Amino acid sequence: MAEELIRIQSLCKSFGNKEVLKNVSLVINRGEIFALIGPSGMGKTTLLRILNFLETPSDGKLVFNGIHRCHEIDTRRRMSMLFQTPAIFNTSVFSNVAYGLEVRGADKNTIKEKVMNALNIVGLPGKELQKARTLSGGEAQRMAFARAIVYDPDILLLDEPTANLDPANVAKIEEIIEQIRSERGTTIVIATHNIYQVKRIADRVGILLNGELIEVNRKDGIFTAPKDARSAAFIRGEMIY
Ligand SMILES: Nc1ncnc2c1ncn2[C@@H]1O[C@H](COP(=O)(O)OP(=O)(O)OP(=O)(O)O)[C@@H](O)[C@H]1O
Ligand SMILES: [Mg+2]
Repeated sequence: MAEELIRIQSLCKSFGNKEVLKNVSLVINRGEIFALIGPSGMGKTTLLRILNFLETPSDGKLVFNGIHRCHEIDTRRRMSMLFQTPAIFNTSVFSNVAYGLEVRGADKNTIKEKVMNALNIVGLPGKELQKARTLSGGEAQRMAFARAIVYDPDILLLDEPTANLDPANVAKIEEIIEQIRSERGTTIVIATHNIYQVKRIADRVGILLNGELIEVNRKDGIFTAPKDARSAAFIRGEMIY
């Protein structure tokens, strides 16, 4: 039986007079990989940023683990977001990955052990002393992934984690996503353009179109029997607006 972890209730977000999210309601269950898909500019990043408390909704509410968002700081400490364009600090790979542990006050030995473990998971062992800004694009993305998982978040928000990567790096990142979920039971929300990625790794899918969540379905449902004609068109690769 699915256990509710995040409840998004009648969420609205406007920037000026532009409505970016319109009355979005959605439940995300513990331990699932939930994919948010939809054309560019339709509100995927905005929704992830709201889940990460980086934006305040204009209306509606968020409930984490049955608790209303007043416990924001505690909730934020247990989640992590990999940004569409990750910021890379001009320091070593080790320092970049250690950041989330340092702000959480972890001791030196724990930091070392967890950073090394995270670098192993993302396939970057031995890179810890390299300047992060000298990594290749694919390596930098995997380092950002290590930074996101290093403190064992309960909730991992991934914004286009494989955009602009070659197929080998895409496969590696997808493998890591599945490994993190199966080993740690992490709940993962992933925004992606990539229908094939959804097919490979998601459990359920939500399609955002013009700020509306037009369909939420199990993956097999969305590919074989979409409930909405616009979802069906999007899945077929047609332009929808
Ligand atoms: N801080 C902001 N101020 C004004 N407009 C914003 C702001 N943040 C986002 N928007 C607008 O909100 C809309 C949705 O943006 P968002 O980044 O959520 O889309 P997206 O679905 O992630 O797109 P993409 O697939 O291209 O990443 C866009 O029109 C964007 O320009
Ligand atoms: Mg985006």
